[in-house]
Amino acid sequence: MGLLEGKTGLIVGVANERSYAWHIAKAIMEHGGRCAFTHLPGDRNAHRVKRSLGELGVTDPWLTPLDAASDEQLDAAFQKYAESFDRMDFLVHSIAFADRDILQPGKFITTTRQQYLSAIDISAFTLLGMARRAQPLMKRSGGGSIIGMSYYGAEKVVLGYNVMGVAKAALECTSRYLASELGADGIRVNQISGGYLRTLASSAVAGTDKLEAGVAERAPLRRNVEGADVGKTAVYLLSNLASGVTGETIYVDCGANILGA
Ligand SMILES: NC(=O)c1ccc[n+]([C@@H]2O[C@H](COP(=O)([O-])OP(=O)(O)OC[C@H]3O[C@@H](n4cnc5c(N)ncnc54)[C@H](O)[C@@H]3O)[C@@H](O)[C@H]2O)c1
Repeated sequence: MGLLEGKTGLIVGVANERSYAWHIAKAIMEHGGRCAFTHLPGDRNAHRVKRSLGELGVTDPWLTPLDAASDEQLDAAFQKYAESFDRMDFLVHSIAFADRDILQPGKFITTTRQQYLSAIDISAFTLLGMARRAQPLMKRSGGGSIIGMSYYGAEKVVLGYNVMGVAKAALECTSRYLASELGADGIRVNQISGGYLRTLASSAVAGTDKLEAGVAERAPLRRNVEGADVGKTAVYLLSNLASGVTGETIYVDCGANILGA
């Protein structure tokens, strides 16, 4: 029997078959979980997400548009989910955004107020916005598990990561405060700090090719992380195997974060 047999939940953040969320969905379904999905508004986005889910053998996905910057769209997506499913056991938050032109070495100082706020809004606040809407559904299901995706740049300076590092620090801290409040309802909240993976989002950060080469050479496991590595940890965190784990940020980066200079 799969570790997630009988569990149903929502995955936010599949853009294509390279997305961390896609790898997480694959692992969840391999372990018997049932997934609903969102896509950024627009037919092209819907088509791209559908096509990538087709590669997982999902021919008729439950899919709804969601720009997480909009409270109305968050309300509508969770409302629609609640009308379709009688339970929510898990929620995967795998989204981030910052203007590409400030994700370059030397450009943090140029970040405008609006760029700073929108990075934190979409990359961190939305975890709270989604958790608040998931809470009653998870409570009704007897508890649940929420995960998000962070990165080492939350803790240490990674050249070019800039405002996204600030947003990831906010995301990890938001996750701990949510864990402390939602634990009373049997809801766990954790983050996976993933290693570098070539995706649409990561390609916005300048200089990541150098990062990739450095990790392959120096990380304890002498390789870069694969989507499946993160997928397996997601299954663990969403399953009863992690029943006593909440408020944590777990590194899945082939050990790269333990290295000093
Ligand atoms: N790729 C990496 O190296 C890496 C490393 C660590 C953490 N992460 C994190 O993993 C998560 C997923 O990123 P990814 O690398 O898979 O890239 P990705 O581009 O495949 O996924 C990013 C997702 O964010 C969504 N998104 C952006 N703005 C949104 C909005 N306003 N509303 C709803 N959705 C929105 C996009 O549609 C996309 O699906 C992000 O939080 C990212 O910071 C990525």
